[in-house]
Amino acid sequence: MATKAHAPTTMIEVEVVAITVVSDIIKRFRFEPVDGQPLPVFGGGAHVVVEMQDGDTQRRNPYSIVSPPGTTDHYAVSVRRDDVGRGGSLYMHNSLQVGDRLFISHPVNLFPIDHRARKHLLIAGGIGITPFLSMMAQLEAEESHFELHLSVRSDGGFLDEIHEHYGKRGSFYRDDRGEVLPLAALLAGQPLGTHLYVCGPEGMLNWVLKSAHDAGWPSQNVHYERFLAPPVGTPYEVLLAVSNITVKVSAQQSMLEAIEAAGIDAPYMCRGGACGQCETKVLSFDGELLHNDHFLTDDEHAGGQKIMPCVSRFQGRELVLER
Ligand code: FES
Repeated sequence: MATKAHAPTTMIEVEVVAITVVSDIIKRFRFEPVDGQPLPVFGGGAHVVVEMQDGDTQRRNPYSIVSPPGTTDHYAVSVRRDDVGRGGSLYMHNSLQVGDRLFISHPVNLFPIDHRARKHLLIAGGIGITPFLSMMAQLEAEESHFELHLSVRSDGGFLDEIHEHYGKRGSFYRDDRGEVLPLAALLAGQPLGTHLYVCGPEGMLNWVLKSAHDAGWPSQNVHYERFLAPPVGTPYEVLLAVSNITVKVSAQQSMLEAIEAAGIDAPYMCRGGACGQCETKVLSFDGELLHNDHFLTDDEHAGGQKIMPCVSRFQGRELVLER
């Protein structure tokens, strides 16, 4: 398999073999391994990190694999264009062509199916459907009991595909038709042993999680994946004390990307502030740590001794990290 050792993850070289327009803002990219060797096996809900060279900036964005688990000749990912984001999705939409080669990470699964469940209730909002596409394929293959409830602004392109394949197991709610996901009824009407899975925009995710908590769902039966793209901000500098390097973080770059661009090893998995893998010790700072993660507690945020460089930023005179 064509790989390159890129700390901390071995990356796989792939070629873009097809680009499909799913809707006016979503494209699907199909990657095949350059050397024709089988790709690593993944489970439903897994993602890969796609490395892209966008001008002078190297980006690494995580995307859910939407191919059915068991697929080893290709991976497909669906990407929603974000016109006001940092540029990764715009690069994928506007610059990536069939025939281009790039590196992707091995699959990582932070949102796996819980096989203790007797039924799987999947609730998605918008592009939050993507991890569920591979999960549903796996659940169907395993003959598990599941249903999907997808809330979208309008017909975002996935509806027909899901409807054709999964029939009544998929229910859709379109904002442009005034349709609202009947969350309270869904949460109240489930058999014992049902597990809830949620993925979507922050507001929807919080609404579903709070409603499930208030309705008495045990936390071990509730699974979620937060989408958090690194935010843009004002440029700043970070001193990496162990490496003795000062790194400049640009407005469009995450601290993690800036550290990687300097050639420094830095662990990661989700690159979205959720997994805790990139946690880094703050040795000192003169300014404000702009915490954006969902991993550290409020006390840890206030304590100022740790930071998650995949999504968090800094504003001030000096920041020193143990890296
Ligand atoms: S890589 Fe997961 S929290 Fe930073």
